[in-house]
Amino acid sequence: MERETFVSEAELAAQKPFIEQVRGYYSALLSGKQPLAFVRTFGCQQNVADSEKVMGMLKEMGFGFTDTPDEADFILFNTCAVREHAEDRVFGNVGALKRLKEDKPSLVIAVCGCMVQQEHIADKFYKSYPFVSLLFGTHRLHAFPELFAKVLFGKKRVKDITAEDGRIAEGLPVYRGEDKSGAWLPIMYGCNNFCTYCIVPYVRGRERSRRPEDIVAEAKELIAAGYKEITLLGQNVNSYGKAEGYDVDFPALLKMINDLPGDFLIRFMTSHPKDATKRLFDTIAECKKVSRHFHLPFQSGSNRILKEMNRRYTREQYLDLIAYAKSVVPDIAFTSDVIVGFPNETEEDFQATLDLVKEVGFVSLFTFIYSKREGTPAATMFDPVTHEEKGKRMARLTALQEEIAAEHSAALVGQTFKAILENDAGGFIEARLPDNRVVRVQADKALLGKRADVTVTEAKSWVLYGEVTAVYD
Ligand code: SAH
Ligand code: SF4
Ligand code: F3S
Repeated sequence: MERETFVSEAELAAQKPFIEQVRGYYSALLSGKQPLAFVRTFGCQQNVADSEKVMGMLKEMGFGFTDTPDEADFILFNTCAVREHAEDRVFGNVGALKRLKEDKPSLVIAVCGCMVQQEHIADKFYKSYPFVSLLFGTHRLHAFPELFAKVLFGKKRVKDITAEDGRIAEGLPVYRGEDKSGAWLPIMYGCNNFCTYCIVPYVRGRERSRRPEDIVAEAKELIAAGYKEITLLGQNVNSYGKAEGYDVDFPALLKMINDLPGDFLIRFMTSHPKDATKRLFDTIAECKKVSRHFHLPFQSGSNRILKEMNRRYTREQYLDLIAYAKSVVPDIAFTSDVIVGFPNETEEDFQATLDLVKEVGFVSLFTFIYSKREGTPAATMFDPVTHEEKGKRMARLTALQEEIAAEHSAALVGQTFKAILENDAGGFIEARLPDNRVVRVQADKALLGKRADVTVTEAKSWVLYGEVTAVYD
């Protein structure tokens, strides 16, 4: 049978009465005072985008938002399963909520996201954290109002991790907060790649892409609302539309958004090298609104390890792509993800990673020590390398990257870039350059969210300092 790609309109409409019920419940409970929600998101931007949808639904239920868990009537943790460390943090943080529930019995605590989508983890939460009332997986986001109402009116704990194996719910409300500098725009969900170390395909289901017209319509809304940066999201944006057989592929989608009127910057993540084509870089060269920052995870520089990881490209193919990209987009800045200490990684394999890092000259790297994920093929692979040795390799890689980053930074001094005054970091404002690097500038807080010319004046190791020389709109 054809897989069902979309959650039907009837099913989505069936959620509306639950929104009203929850609203009514809190209005009675708090005698008309606005209920408050505390939402904390772990993991990648996909999770941030999911939280924005849950917050959209909460807003429709009458909720406001707070940064203080003590004030909240509803607490949600949206979790990440990608590494053990991420999971441990969540267990610790959720554990700390017990006291709040004791102080305020009406408080509802919920945990959702990628961790919960794994049955053994959902069971652990259910058994060991009785103060958590609601557990729901990544496939049940659109059913949040119904699940919430069940907790409130059924007076019982609810656990729902039904895996519908990937459907798209269009038209959910999204609450993106007050900051208009950047917006996340999911273009696809799930992953089909099954890299042998990775849990994501198991907790996010099969790859599925939104219709191009729905994406373009949302991009138009974001531009009209004044967003200066739109980041297209997916685990592997380069295979956009393939599963559905759309006649719009990722380069074509980029061009459609680039051609929308307005002054905005387009970013996207993440790209898988196996699906990145020369045509994609040709398109970027043509599309002036597309950021010159490109995140292209290579994971390992060793062909043997790449094969064991099931990445389906070689280091030569990766380096070829980078060389082609630099030839057609000379100002392109690459960043990447690297895993150190994949099972049975030898010193020679690791050297190949260091060599690749030197050859490409990334502006920055996200480096991770391999973390065993239950249920993935790599979890059962032979791994004689000690944790201590993996730690040493990590330190060597980080030291090398720091040298490279310092060279990049020094080369920027004296140059002027069009940047976005993005974040008030207390004492200074962080301006984001087109290649994604951050420059600290002194500027009036009233300018937050605006575009400005920023001249880099000083580079200290990886920190850049600069001055605002012009402000736009
Ligand atoms: N879809 C994206 C990455 C999603 S996960 C891609 O393919 O590029 C983000 C990063 O976490 C990965 O690129 C990888 O470097 C890292 N990662 C994933 N699983 C991991 C594991 N088991 N141990 C250590 N790092 C991991
Ligand atoms: Fe994980 Fe690989 Fe999919 Fe990225 S492409 S989410 S690393 S399985
Ligand atoms: Fe983590 Fe899930 Fe993203 S596992 S990295 S939050 S897709």
